[in-house]
Amino acid sequence: MSKLFGDHAERYTSFVENSGPNAHYDRPAIMRLAGETAGKQILELGSAGGGLTEHLAAAGAEVLGLDHDPRLVDLARKRLGARARLETADLNEPLTMVPSASTDVVVASLVLHYLKDWGPLLAELHRCLKPGGALVFSIHHPITGWLRSDRTDYHRVELISENWDWNGKTVTGRMYRRPVSAVFTSLLEAGFAIDAVEEPQPAPGVEDPELDRILRTTPVFLYVRAVR
Ligand SMILES: C[S@@+](CC[C@H](N)C(=O)[O-])C[C@H]1O[C@@H](n2cnc3c(N)ncnc32)[C@H](O)[C@@H]1O
Repeated sequence: MSKLFGDHAERYTSFVENSGPNAHYDRPAIMRLAGETAGKQILELGSAGGGLTEHLAAAGAEVLGLDHDPRLVDLARKRLGARARLETADLNEPLTMVPSASTDVVVASLVLHYLKDWGPLLAELHRCLKPGGALVFSIHHPITGWLRSDRTDYHRVELISENWDWNGKTVTGRMYRRPVSAVFTSLLEAGFAIDAVEEPQPAPGVEDPELDRILRTTPVFLYVRAVR
């Protein structure tokens, strides 16, 4: 599901370059939680047009970026050239291109909520990570997801939708909302230890004051660092 990003590959890629939630909130938080990445083997899930990949590569990381949409993978390859490896892959399938215990850090920025069942992917990530390696991810915040749902059953995993404005084009994104306990139980069941849970403040530079207020005062994204 969610070919939305690939259907608008160029528009989406240019939008996330400077957008408040991506450039001034998500990317700084993911980079900080990923820690020192120079010389490290990084597996990036949902690498899209390579916006975050670019930052990881600039920090000296050896990045393998995976995305299921070939149009985005093409854009990211053009952008990164030899500075990162980008492959088309569906995260619902085994990650056969990643050797076991080869990865220092997995980063998954705003992608896991497009997967209904996290179990098979988390088992794969546990296999790919070196002992002591970390999984760092952001998802749309479960509280906001609940408020956007029809609120008939908090405890189920369900599809919800949200409208976004990508540089003047309104699009509708659909994603899975899950209860808070499901986020952490699935990590624990896959053998991860929870290392950090964050609901950070945005970095300076969000141009729209109303968006800045929303990012500072409401539950927008949730950040987790889990260790193998
Ligand atoms: C919100 S974007 C991620 C943004 C990106 N992290 C960045 O910083 O620019 C979500 C990405 O996940 C990808 N995606 C969604 N479901 C996927 C799946 N099942 N397998 C692989 N990629 C998927 C989409 O194609 C999209 O590029």
